[in-house]
Amino acid sequence: MRTIACLSLSGGQGKTTAALLLGRTLALNSSKVLVIDADPQANLTFYLGHQVAPDEPTLLEVMQREVDAVHGIYPLRYANLFLIPADNALNKVQDYLATSGMGAVVLRRRLEPVVNLFEYCIIDSPPQRTQICLSVVGAADFILIPVEASTKGVNSLLRSLELVEELRDIGAFSGQVLGVLPFRDRWFGRSQAKESRDAIEAMRQMAGDIPVLPSILESEQYKRAIRQGQTLSEMGLADLQYPFEKIIAQLDARR
Ligand SMILES: Nc1ncnc2c1ncn2[C@@H]1O[C@H](COP(=O)(O)OP(=O)(O)OP(=O)(O)O)[C@@H](O)[C@H]1O
Ligand SMILES: [Mg+2]
Repeated sequence: MRTIACLSLSGGQGKTTAALLLGRTLALNSSKVLVIDADPQANLTFYLGHQVAPDEPTLLEVMQREVDAVHGIYPLRYANLFLIPADNALNKVQDYLATSGMGAVVLRRRLEPVVNLFEYCIIDSPPQRTQICLSVVGAADFILIPVEASTKGVNSLLRSLELVEELRDIGAFSGQVLGVLPFRDRWFGRSQAKESRDAIEAMRQMAGDIPVLPSILESEQYKRAIRQGQTLSEMGLADLQYPFEKIIAQLDARR
């Protein structure tokens, strides 16, 4: 199993959008994919149309080792796609992680029993630098950093790269940053908005050797895709699907 975490330390940067569409695309390409909602906001769980029943184990129970990971995994209405869901109660895991001593390795540990069941695992993370976030990075082989094509996005990139390096420093992360994914890149016909252009240029400078991937354009079509439970390619929008094809190409290149 190759685990990819969508990380970005600010709200509204495209983490959930990227996790959802990447997971769906990989599953459509017939890989068996586990997606994990590690955000107590539970947007990914909601977008995937999964309702958490009151007695149903979620990521909380998996992380606290109340159930084995396999019992927290649910099939979805999409072929090849499985979910460890979240709900607001996931916030309770913060204390558990903080007192466990090595919170950053907890999620990796919990997923060990299922590594042979899936080809890919995609994790959506919360926007804050919480214990959950550290544990998500610790579980990842690859980090994908979606960031809005704006000053706020550039700041989010900076803080996300810092977090990754800190965890690398203490030995909790030994993977690779797959790429920076500019989000809501604005174009007017054939000309790019100045704010988008400047922000993406700043991202390139900051990213160094890390690839800056083709952008997710500002477009209602992505929201429609999420609402309708479709990928952009299923909607016949191959150009908007392109960033996800590039991410998969990056994954293939790093085998
Ligand atoms: N291409 C797009 N253009 C404009 N808006 C978009 C696009 N794709 C998604 N959105 C909207 O942007 C918002 C933020 O996206 P998303 O939820 O993926 O970000 P996030 O980083 O997961 O946010 P949070 O930090 O709150 O979890 C959502 O309301 C989503 O519907
Ligand atoms: Mg989100």
